[in-house]
Amino acid sequence: MKKNSPVSRSGRFAHAPGADVARFTESISFDRRLWRHDILGSLAHATMLRKIGLLSKAEADAIVRGLDAIAREIKAGKFKWKPELEDVHMNIEAELTRRVPAGAKLHAARSRNDQVALDLRLWLRDELVLLLGEIVDLQRGLVALGEKNADVLIPGYTHLQRAQPVYLAHHLLAYVEMLERDCERFWDGYSRVNVCPLGSGAIAGSTLPLDRVFVAKLLGFVDVHGRPQLTQNSMDAVSDRDFAVEFCAAGALLAVHLSRLAEDVILWASAEFNFIKIADAYTTGSSLMPQKKNPDIAELARGKSGRVIGNLMALLTLLKGLPMTYNRDLQEDKERVFDTTDTVRTTVRLMTAMLRNTKINSPACAAAAGDPALLATDLADYLVKKGMPFRQAHHAVGAVVALAEKLGKPLNRLTFAELQSVDKNFGRDALGVFDLKRAMAKRNLIGAPGTKEVAKQLARWREQLS
Ligand code: ARG
Repeated sequence: MKKNSPVSRSGRFAHAPGADVARFTESISFDRRLWRHDILGSLAHATMLRKIGLLSKAEADAIVRGLDAIAREIKAGKFKWKPELEDVHMNIEAELTRRVPAGAKLHAARSRNDQVALDLRLWLRDELVLLLGEIVDLQRGLVALGEKNADVLIPGYTHLQRAQPVYLAHHLLAYVEMLERDCERFWDGYSRVNVCPLGSGAIAGSTLPLDRVFVAKLLGFVDVHGRPQLTQNSMDAVSDRDFAVEFCAAGALLAVHLSRLAEDVILWASAEFNFIKIADAYTTGSSLMPQKKNPDIAELARGKSGRVIGNLMALLTLLKGLPMTYNRDLQEDKERVFDTTDTVRTTVRLMTAMLRNTKINSPACAAAAGDPALLATDLADYLVKKGMPFRQAHHAVGAVVALAEKLGKPLNRLTFAELQSVDKNFGRDALGVFDLKRAMAKRNLIGAPGTKEVAKQLARWREQLS
């Protein structure tokens, strides 16, 4: 047996794996980032083995000290990872056992199958907390931009055609709402990540008298009431990756939201819209066209949603044909989960920074929002208030719009006589609907872009995110 062969092959195997086999099957190149959580899980397992008498105090202490020293070396970048030892679990255990003979007792009643499930859950719990913090920062950034430009109006768009005027803040708060739902989804998923699989062994638990509740409590696998959360079926526990799928699904939807925000930013930064100016530090130049300033951060935010959606598809595809229980295919889960986390976290962070360094071009916004055609619906509402059925009012205003177009003037420049020529129900006050300030004051339904309502929503979010 070759010296550096993994312990999983000892005894049974006459030969170490071939170099190409080792390269194909290793995961240390990417799962080493689970090292903290792997060590944490081992510390808890050792403490429990000591509690049930399978380790002496001296052995448990030696293991704890040994793991601690390894942790410090990994942190300092001094630990030598060995690809021939396959993965993070065996690298750490092998090194521990080399230093501390009692290390050989650590794997009692544990398999890498429940160990890797544990590590991934511990790791994801921490990542979720960090990600949620960054999403909240982005929400705060959006609210701050809205507050700073509280009186800026822009056209709202449907079909990317100008529709009705809205406060810029209202538009930005739409993303705050989306991000809030993302947070809710991640939190909801958290409760299913936060379940301890340790003690499930390879598939069928153990004949040794483990104290699973003790381990779960040590590792913080408890619900909001402090009740320990343990997997209830050893076969499910070692093969379940639902929590990873849910995370990647919530991540994919978050990425889609970020992509949509990015698309708005890209449109707004164009000369055609000209609503915003992104600071130089957050734009890039063209290698050929000296005049260009490109919104590359937003473009990459939009583009990266592709890989995050892909990660979800890869995970689902990976799982769909697996017979019970653990299969090595599951090793492929980690890079998808890692990539989703890394991608959405950096994207959220960069979008926040970019928005904090973006200025609103209020004259351009005012010019666009001042288009009286945006208030055509208000003119129809005017007729409805006079008792006209909406369908008829819609038709009448349509005729007004056609007349204005024919006369080559904006809607609000039509004369009383011209309005009357379309419909006798138009009074002298009809043109008053084109007063944008008044129009915005009227939109005060819950959730509408009215002056008071938007101020109220801004205040609500400020309070909620503080
Ligand atoms: N590196 C493996 C993974 O990520 C660890 C579990 C290996 N288990 C096994 N029975 N070979 O899934």
